[in-house]
Amino acid sequence: MTDAALRARYLDALGIDRYLLRHPPATEAVATESPWAELEARVAACTRCSLHRGRTQTVFGVGARDAEWFVVGEAPGEEEDQRGEPFVGAAGQLLDAMLTAIDLPRPTVFIANLLKCRPPENRDPQAEEIAECSAYLASQIELVRPRIILAFGRVAAQNLLGTTATLASLRGVVHHYGAQRLPVVVTYHPAYLLRSPGDKRKAWEDLKFARRTFASLVAESS
Ligand code: URA
Repeated sequence: MTDAALRARYLDALGIDRYLLRHPPATEAVATESPWAELEARVAACTRCSLHRGRTQTVFGVGARDAEWFVVGEAPGEEEDQRGEPFVGAAGQLLDAMLTAIDLPRPTVFIANLLKCRPPENRDPQAEEIAECSAYLASQIELVRPRIILAFGRVAAQNLLGTTATLASLRGVVHHYGAQRLPVVVTYHPAYLLRSPGDKRKAWEDLKFARRTFASLVAESS
């Protein structure tokens, strides 16, 4: 029993009137875990697929928990696995530059991957791994309640949208995710752009398209 409940019981037993605070102190509300803390603990302890055996740690996601933009990547790489944060390697630096180019410094968005554990040798995620892990991403999106999702790369895009369409065919169109039909814009993964810098121009077009999409959402809602 909490101190407050015990005190209330004593006062009732003594026949003394209790006055309830209109705004109970925050400490009393902390008795139950926040949904974020609960989700983080579930991810950290996850053993739903075999990737848990090879991980240094899970990579939950970072950023503003009330972000308007939600960035989705594929899976942690070696550096992310070591540091416990998504997109901190070379691809992460390019991702930061891409976001900054559309006025979205990293701390203003929420960034999470489809998978929370690193696949060995950075191979593509397998269907079973995605099936076991995707509920975590869905919960993160539900908690953040962003206005728009930016999906980086084919794997993130196909799985968010439940399609096998090519990345090329998914670009330049506003897709929708989940029951809330959150707008989703798709672009190239920064790791791909490091290997194929010739496509950076197309990625820039996608980012501008995402920015325009966001601006019209804001305009519609005001
Ligand atoms: N690639 C991703 O998709 N996510 C990361 O966190 C790092 C590289």
